[in-house]
Amino acid sequence: SSAVEVIAAKRDRHELTPGQIEGVLGAYTRGEVAEEQMAALAMAILLNGMTAAETAHWTQAMIGSGEVLDLGDVGRPLVDKHSTGGVGDKITLPLAPLVAACGAAVPQLSGRGLGHTGGTLDKLEAIPGWRASLSTDEIRTQLAEVGAVVCATTPTLAPADRRLYALRDVTGTVESVPLIASSIMSKKLAEGTGGLVLDVKVGSGAFMKTRERAGELAGAMTAIGAAHGLPTTALLTGMSRPLGRCVGNALEVAESVEVLRGGGPGDVVALTVTLAREMLALAGITGTDPAAVLASGAAYDVWERMIAAQGGDPAAPLPVARHVETLTADRSGIFAGADALAVGTAAWRLGAGRARKEDPVQAAAGVRMLAVPGDEVRAGDPLLELHTDTPERLPGARQLLTATALPVAAGPPVFEELV
Ligand code: URA
Repeated sequence: SSAVEVIAAKRDRHELTPGQIEGVLGAYTRGEVAEEQMAALAMAILLNGMTAAETAHWTQAMIGSGEVLDLGDVGRPLVDKHSTGGVGDKITLPLAPLVAACGAAVPQLSGRGLGHTGGTLDKLEAIPGWRASLSTDEIRTQLAEVGAVVCATTPTLAPADRRLYALRDVTGTVESVPLIASSIMSKKLAEGTGGLVLDVKVGSGAFMKTRERAGELAGAMTAIGAAHGLPTTALLTGMSRPLGRCVGNALEVAESVEVLRGGGPGDVVALTVTLAREMLALAGITGTDPAAVLASGAAYDVWERMIAAQGGDPAAPLPVARHVETLTADRSGIFAGADALAVGTAAWRLGAGRARKEDPVQAAAGVRMLAVPGDEVRAGDPLLELHTDTPERLPGARQLLTATALPVAAGPPVFEELV
């Protein structure tokens, strides 16, 4: 079928055949389908959906637009994790070395932040000398020798996804469950992992604002995993409050190091250990308790080797913001917590994130929370710190947080359920 016929078929709610899907995505990859045609098809898919079979074929065609990484035999079971993105979600940083310290190999190919959610690569680039881009040979060697790699996706992995995602971003077609699920899963399947744990975020700071939508996305992704023979499990976890106390690149690295040294915020430790258990189960590693391994310092040792293997100096001081402003409580009461979307947007505006793909990020910018939900605070107590190198950004962030994230009332604390 021609591209126009495929667009019309989806417009008229027909199920696309494997041939139509392979044909249109293959032609798009070769530059024979115009961007406006793919945009029309993406909108038809957003409005009319795709069946599980269509979504599996769509994913296969995206994988086929590039190469599948051959990680070969690294001597340990391969397992990876993907988070759909949240505020303060630095879990990959302690998790990858922890799971490696337990005996698996973690090929965590990651992305950068866009919008209010941070990117793992942006965070690690706050470490002096650390390098995100590795060759396939370097990835393989590091997996065998260290057990964990966090690096940029190589340009050869699912290249059709890169173009399609950029196109969806400017055509209002990001929010389609089959398109999100196939985008994420095509990259993970092309990476060559042996198992995958999905952390699907739910709440104000997440892509999916409700349990129902998050469950739909989780179901679509696990179905793609099953169709491709990749053992995949999914957890839905809360994202109406930021994870931990810190949001921002260097701030989140520092908090992750605290966790790796046996401290850090309880919610970050709990989610790290829970996801590690899921990953170890998929990797077939039993009888190793990740909580004990974390407490032993073995995960921190892997962290140091993982950072050093990519040119970073794990002992170097992290960048510090030139301007720090403290927001205080305007009355006494209970701190109900800061809304994830508000904190994420404030950190982004302070310089931790980017507005366009080409923009640089500030390593030191972000938000640190000095109180946690349920804390009793008195008028004038410090609640939040705003960090930035560009002080002209402070008023905007201050306004955003004062308006939405300082609900200090005398009522009962709001506790967040972690699912
Ligand atoms: N993340 C992705 O990688 N793809 C999407 O479509 C959405 C989020």
